[in-house]
Amino acid sequence: MTQDELKTLVGQAALHYVVPGEIVGVGTGSTVNKFIDALASIKDQVKGAVSSSEASTARLKALGIPVFDANDVGELAVYIDGADEIDGRGYMVKGGGAALTREKIVAAQSRLFVCIADESKLVQTLGQFPLPVEVIPMSANQLVRQFAALGGKAAIRQKDGQPLVTDNGQYILDVTGLQIADPLAFETQVSQWPGVVTVGVFAHQKAGVCLLGGAAGVKTVTY
Ligand code: 5RP
Repeated sequence: MTQDELKTLVGQAALHYVVPGEIVGVGTGSTVNKFIDALASIKDQVKGAVSSSEASTARLKALGIPVFDANDVGELAVYIDGADEIDGRGYMVKGGGAALTREKIVAAQSRLFVCIADESKLVQTLGQFPLPVEVIPMSANQLVRQFAALGGKAAIRQKDGQPLVTDNGQYILDVTGLQIADPLAFETQVSQWPGVVTVGVFAHQKAGVCLLGGAAGVKTVTY
């Protein structure tokens, strides 16, 4: 099976976690796009979605799925999103699509995080994928130095020769060279640095379930 087919498979499998009559939290990325497409097939059974990015909002609306403001709804039963890396404890690195801040907000608003991913995302230790960190632009160079002190090399993410600007009007640093052995402690530490909006380690908002696509089909891992 191709990676695209695996994404379709886990996107469809995630429908099992959607609670009829409720609002579902929806992440961002190519795997989530498959979930959104699958969700459209049962759209009459859900009230709508809270979305984690402008891109997902546009896709949801184009398929006729109502999108609610996070502030207008209470706790959500489930949040469905992809990951750039996931370890054996359900800790993740996210933000490859630059949507990490809203992703963490909707994840925090939800009782269960269901991660949908193909097996290539499974790692022993987080840090092989460049760690995305959303930052206030004026803090970028100071934060580059702070990551260097931890052994990381941070660079401002570019788009068309300019710093990429997120849905929230901020920059993304991508940090290579880190081995994140203690994701909870790392997330707590970096989240406190002035200028950090959101660090892409999802340890406090880890996955409760991962639907992992591989040669043998979809494996359900519970943490
Ligand atoms: C976006 C994310 C995505 O969940 C992550 O990048 C995985 O994306 P994809 O499903 O395209 O591999 O965190 O900010």
